[in-house]
Amino acid sequence: DTVFVLNGPNLNLLGTREPEIYGSATLADIEADLRGQADGLGLAIDFRQTNHEGVLVDWLHEAQHKGAKAVLLNAAAYTHTSIALLDAIKAITVPVIEVHLSDPSTREEFRHISYVGMAAADCVQGLGARSYSVALDKAAAL
Ligand code: DQA
Repeated sequence: DTVFVLNGPNLNLLGTREPEIYGSATLADIEADLRGQADGLGLAIDFRQTNHEGVLVDWLHEAQHKGAKAVLLNAAAYTHTSIALLDAIKAITVPVIEVHLSDPSTREEFRHISYVGMAAADCVQGLGARSYSVALDKAAAL
């Protein structure tokens, strides 16, 4: 079984991007840890990052076409703006687990709305890089 791990805008800069909020791990560090964990769970991982909203929509469709077991989605800022992502999640049957390093509900008001969360099966946030690992355990248990 394959779990898609889809990362949105600016997450390619993890490690140097506002480390006081997002931590010092790079996206490559997170990917390496997740691959180790996935091996132990008997899962394959398709790990990707893009800065483009429509590419995330395409990848959600692809997860459906390829019969992915689940999607872990950190849509970053598009979480709070994208009706297109909400519609894409509703359009597929693959369960999507929303992931955030920080806890957007304790930050600026504009981060309190989550379009992704309106359709996601679950959400893990505020645990730093460990949010991804807890989300992968949840995906494995689906
Ligand atoms: C984020 C939280 C979002 O509000 C923000 O726009 C991000 C990262 C997180 O992982 O904490 O880019 O999704």
